[in-house]
Amino acid sequence: MELAIRRMQDEDVPAVFQLDRASFSLPWTELSYLFEIHKNETSIPLVAYAGTDLAGFIVVWQVEDEAHIGTIAVAENARRSGVARSLIYAGLGQAYSRGARKAFLEVRAGNQPARKLYLTLGFVDFDLRKRYYADNHEDAIIMLLDPLPDMNAEE
Ligand SMILES: CC(C)(COP(=O)(O)OP(=O)(O)OC[C@H]1O[C@@H](n2cnc3c(N)ncnc32)[C@H](O)[C@@H]1OP(=O)(O)O)[C@@H](O)C(=O)NCCC(=O)NCCS
Repeated sequence: MELAIRRMQDEDVPAVFQLDRASFSLPWTELSYLFEIHKNETSIPLVAYAGTDLAGFIVVWQVEDEAHIGTIAVAENARRSGVARSLIYAGLGQAYSRGARKAFLEVRAGNQPARKLYLTLGFVDFDLRKRYYADNHEDAIIMLLDPLPDMNAEE
């Protein structure tokens, strides 16, 4: 699949919001994406397009030497073709360029596809937040990649 990854813009937000709602039981609001685009200086919000179709998006935050994957989702018909991996390489690659040298994320304990994805990228389990998610009180696993490699160089 030919994939184009670029920074998220206002006109992407309706499709991003739609994919967010299709992917998560606790989606963000459209306003929160606009906040990431315009107001949050720590944010690296990216979209991936296959032609004119939104294939996925990611939001990475970077503060000093830490990156954090805030959210990531891939359209159902685009899954298992490396879109998430490419988005993570792009997002963490930019965070590395800004100074990040480790990366954190939270994932639902029962989210096996995401857990597998992060494990294959070298993340390890770092901490557990019991009953973290408001909808079903599922535990969150905090995963860590330390040191964060320069993913700009790897892909
Ligand atoms: C998790 C998610 C982002 C993965 O996106 P994706 O584009 O399908 O992932 P990739 O194709 O880049 O997968 C890379 C690797 O991750 C692992 N992986 C991804 N999905 C998997 C699945 N369903 N089952 C097992 N392993 C999986 C595999 O090791 C895969 O490599 P392979 O296909 O060569 O075996 C996608 O399933 C999704 O959007 N889920 C809903 C939202 C979500 O849970 N986001 C994460 C929140 S923490």
